[in-house]
Amino acid sequence: MVADTAIVNVKIVDGSGAAPTPGCVTIVKDRIGTISKDLRGSAQEIVDGRGKVLAPGFIDAHTHDDRALLAHPDMTAKLSQGVTTVVTGNCGISLAPLEEKEPVPPLNLLGDRACWRYPDFDSYAEALDRRPPALNSLMLIGHSTLRVSSMTELDRPASKSELDRMCASLDQCLVSGAAGMSTGLAYPPAWNAPTEEVVELASVLKDHRKLHTTHMRDEEDDIISSIEETLRIGREADVPVLISHHKTCGRENWGRTRETLSLIADARRSQSVCCDVYPYTASSTVLLREFVTRSERVMITWSTPLPEFAKMDLSDIAKELKCDLYEAVDRLQPAGAIYFQIADEDLERVLAYPDALIGSDGLPHDPHPHPRLWGTFPRVLGHYARDCNLFTLQEGVRKMTGATAETFGMRDRGFIREGMFADLVLFDPETIIDRATYEEPDQPSAGVDTVWINGSCAFDKGRCTENYKGRLLTAFNNL
Ligand code: ZN
Ligand code: CU
Repeated sequence: MVADTAIVNVKIVDGSGAAPTPGCVTIVKDRIGTISKDLRGSAQEIVDGRGKVLAPGFIDAHTHDDRALLAHPDMTAKLSQGVTTVVTGNCGISLAPLEEKEPVPPLNLLGDRACWRYPDFDSYAEALDRRPPALNSLMLIGHSTLRVSSMTELDRPASKSELDRMCASLDQCLVSGAAGMSTGLAYPPAWNAPTEEVVELASVLKDHRKLHTTHMRDEEDDIISSIEETLRIGREADVPVLISHHKTCGRENWGRTRETLSLIADARRSQSVCCDVYPYTASSTVLLREFVTRSERVMITWSTPLPEFAKMDLSDIAKELKCDLYEAVDRLQPAGAIYFQIADEDLERVLAYPDALIGSDGLPHDPHPHPRLWGTFPRVLGHYARDCNLFTLQEGVRKMTGATAETFGMRDRGFIREGMFADLVLFDPETIIDRATYEEPDQPSAGVDTVWINGSCAFDKGRCTENYKGRLLTAFNNL
């Protein structure tokens, strides 16, 4: 048989954590054809990998790319890192199902009122179908989105009838193909939801065999009770849970990932639980008083009333406005910020934890985004695996491919195996590295050569090919 493409002379890192093996991989239509030591048969096109690494395309376990996929179908920030699939709808925020409402923070991270026009999962899926983006995606349904669409006031638990409406709406989305449900219990639209409300919703996931991901209620002093709440939701609803961007924030809590990871590891003996993590010691989201207290430094990324203060430190802004930090926060609203609040020690411990997946949590609509948007995956492989020796290259790849595909129940992706989808990345393990910084965040990473998505070349020699073949992965489409 004649393959469409043969990628010869590569070290295959297959996504399982197994050591690299030299070989050749062929692509036939949208799938992987054969994997062999040397090329057998012939191919229309032969790509010489020159001894570099061929891995499964990276899967970004945690994104807010719901609208970016529609607005910026090239998805350069992700594609240039070797990412081929993104999980959207995290932290309780999903672009569907919600229509014509003024988005309260943090829903405004995805865009203003005009962007919210998908009353159900199907209408969002159709929009992606009409104009496919470069990347594959799978979408979680946000609890905060459900609350905003179903409740009249958000400052209280949902009533029985509101909760019934939310459950029915979630069920409908899952029937149409959504990948699970996310919560953002640390944020205003959701923090008045009691655990029971989340359990009730999470129970809807069970019949669909989908998971619950959570930006927990507290990542500071009450981190342990937040993890316990997450585990309880998983147990009572009988569903897998994924703790989003795991960290322990604030100097008083530095070092506590020792406790949190052992709690998670113990729980794993009786229930399904894992986490995702981004490789930086600063977080980023909307500007909230609550998050300022525990930060060493706060950098403003955008502000609607005072845009001239973007890229400045909150402490300098307060000096200029001649007020205290909290008054400055109020005057900047609505706004976004980067919060420096995590210890290197904790970050490294979570990154090295075997059941931690890599998720960027990048904010694609932020005018001055956190560098994780452009740098996450090359930073894990180049800085943490190669330069810091925190784990092997193949282990780093597993955390962003095979382990992620298995956690989200993706069929035929995440590994280099014959017959699986040809989502592949060719990169140089000696030079791969992030270039994005807090000061200059829009910098593409170095070391990624070529990316194939569903068998088509999407990125080559540092440039997007404008060949948009991304698919929304649903129950009918290999999720
Ligand atoms: Zn979050
Ligand atoms: Cu997030």
